[in-house]
Amino acid sequence: MVEISAEETHPLRLAVLRATTTSKQVVFPEDDFPGVVHLGVSVEGELVAVSTWVPRPHHDQAAVQLRGMATAARLQGTGLGGLLLESGCRRALSADLHVVWANARDTALPFYLQHGFRVEGDGFLDATIGLPHHRVVRNLAP
Ligand SMILES: CC(C)(COP(=O)(O)OP(=O)(O)OC[C@H]1O[C@@H](n2cnc3c(N)ncnc32)[C@H](O)[C@@H]1OP(=O)(O)O)[C@@H](O)C(=O)NCCC(=O)NCCS
Repeated sequence: MVEISAEETHPLRLAVLRATTTSKQVVFPEDDFPGVVHLGVSVEGELVAVSTWVPRPHHDQAAVQLRGMATAARLQGTGLGGLLLESGCRRALSADLHVVWANARDTALPFYLQHGFRVEGDGFLDATIGLPHHRVVRNLAP
């Protein structure tokens, strides 16, 4: 697991998260917020999974929003996303942040549920890409 820049996330965001969407926007407004960390997985020098962790409250509790989870298509389902997710959660916990949340694509819900997240509230269409999403939340045990 490696810490990367916002710009380094762009190729995978484009290839994986914007492959079939009308919007090709790969810059998130939160990318440069204070405390934001971009984490990736590198295999033989190639970045193959990315994620962005934004300090942002959930309801009124200090929390981290996970954005832009993407694994290179050929490696999806091989455990890299899980590795990255668990690393980011451990990092949040060590910063004393006990809640991680995300607006998850419905197609990725099984992935989040397998990693201890629960669905919160009704589904909605994401404003940028128009795909069905649900809010997912995980409480990190101290
Ligand atoms: C969702 C995603 C980040 C998970 O990363 P990953 O490296 O594939 O995850 P892992 O290999 O650790 O976990 C595999 C689990 O994720 C789910 N999964 C696997 N491939 C998937 C895919 N193409 N799309 C969505 N979920 C997938 C399955 O539940 C799988 O569980 P299983 O192995 O028991 O079948 C990755 O599949 C991906 O980039 N998907 C497309 C983009 C996306 O939906 N990103 C999340 C936006 S909220």
